[in-house]
Amino acid sequence: MKSVVNSQGDPGDAGPGSDLHLELSDGPGGRRGALTRALRDAVRTGRLAPGTRLPPYRSLAADLGLARNTVAEAYAELVAEGWLTARQGSGTRVAHRAEPPGAGRRRGPATSPRPRRPAYDLVQGTPDAAAFPRTAWLASARRALTAAPNEAFGPGDPRGRVELRRALADYLARARGVRADPGRIVICPGFAGALRLLGRVLDGTIAVESYGLGFHRSLLTAAGLATVTLPIDERGARVEELTASEATAVLLTAAHQFPTGGPLDPGRRAAAVDWARATGGVVLEDDYDGEFRYDRKPVGALQGLDPERVVYIGSASKSLSPALRLGWMVLPGHLVDAVLEAKGERESWSSALDQLTLADFIASGAYDRHVRRMRRHYRRRRDELVAALALRAPHVRVTGIAAGLHAVLELPPGTERTVVRAAAWQGVAVEGLSLYRHGEAAGVPGDGLVVGYGTPPEHAFAGALEALCEALPPAPEERSDPGLVQSV
Ligand SMILES: Cc1ncc(COP(=O)(O)O)c(C=O)c1O
Repeated sequence: MKSVVNSQGDPGDAGPGSDLHLELSDGPGGRRGALTRALRDAVRTGRLAPGTRLPPYRSLAADLGLARNTVAEAYAELVAEGWLTARQGSGTRVAHRAEPPGAGRRRGPATSPRPRRPAYDLVQGTPDAAAFPRTAWLASARRALTAAPNEAFGPGDPRGRVELRRALADYLARARGVRADPGRIVICPGFAGALRLLGRVLDGTIAVESYGLGFHRSLLTAAGLATVTLPIDERGARVEELTASEATAVLLTAAHQFPTGGPLDPGRRAAAVDWARATGGVVLEDDYDGEFRYDRKPVGALQGLDPERVVYIGSASKSLSPALRLGWMVLPGHLVDAVLEAKGERESWSSALDQLTLADFIASGAYDRHVRRMRRHYRRRRDELVAALALRAPHVRVTGIAAGLHAVLELPPGTERTVVRAAAWQGVAVEGLSLYRHGEAAGVPGDGLVVGYGTPPEHAFAGALEALCEALPPAPEERSDPGLVQSV
């Protein structure tokens, strides 16, 4: 089937006043699939140039003898894949970055029709590497090395350097509401290191939130623990389900659920501790980014409710850098010996010199200054993300923005994979929310994007937002009749 929409429009405009030649071939997906392939081909081969405006649904539908909905769905699919863009007031156009490598306008030797290497990194997980406080860290390292006793160069205490444990005890009590005694703090290589150790010490079944990092869960199962999944809803993990479960421990991101973003409801915080008291269970509290809360008072550590039932686990990975591999546990009295035994005779993982540097960094006030500066920095980025979405994609709801270094963009059901692919076409690396889901999750969005806004360097951030917005699905009213929303 062929269609030529024939009239006199602006050059580069395939609107009602231009010619658009399309050949619809047989293949999967019926008429909608044929139209999608024909349009994709026309863009890929350069027949439809970037910026070209496509005919309205109605006129293309009339020309091709198709239903309006079929055209609207094909456009929406191509918008989601990044070939087209749709903006209120300017119709549907060929995206500016739509030409894949190997198309007519080839820039390099690439010939495969794969997305280009991402120019923008919006994958959550890493703080802004350019903002690492090199000068202050170096000053602390110099002071720490100068002052270090000779004994610091020998095999260390498995708890970690006492200077760091003292500095942390003060800091955590003051800033996070943790009841910390240096004798109960054990230094470990990040949160993951803590989990490895605790996996060796705990036995039975551990409950994990239905959204989280898959490799954390794998660390626990590799250590021989069984896991059960605790569904989450808009108030956080449903800890009330612990009672009926076989769990003997639970892992919670209480201050900032990872990655959906809300704090655990106060009633549920108390319920988690009550459960642990009643059953002799243990709560593992992952406080991975507790310092970065923007709009409300910081949510204090759960551990403050009962230091005998909660293991508090913190890390320098978000506040400074994951490359340091420095984390800390504040343990209930009954777990200290077992954890030390699991760790071994000596400090086997973390460099004593890095520990002494961090101790000086905290005790000198440099850590507080750095965290305050980074809080302003990330908050500004968060605000820029929210503002860009309000302007370019007001129909996309953004959640989990009160804290942390990432936000969640809710997507219409069934669109996550195409939006992630569309983002790749726009040069953006970003992950779908489903990547973090295990098992049931009630009351939280099914499809979404987890947007890490901490990572891109300053000069690339505006471009990253721009490219991200290009990849988002159009508003339902831009797409078509309301009935079409679900089918995109
Ligand atoms: C949910 C969660 N927990 C903990 C951490 C910290 O991990 P680690 O200290 O092992 O780098 C991160 C990442 O920084 C995280 O996203």
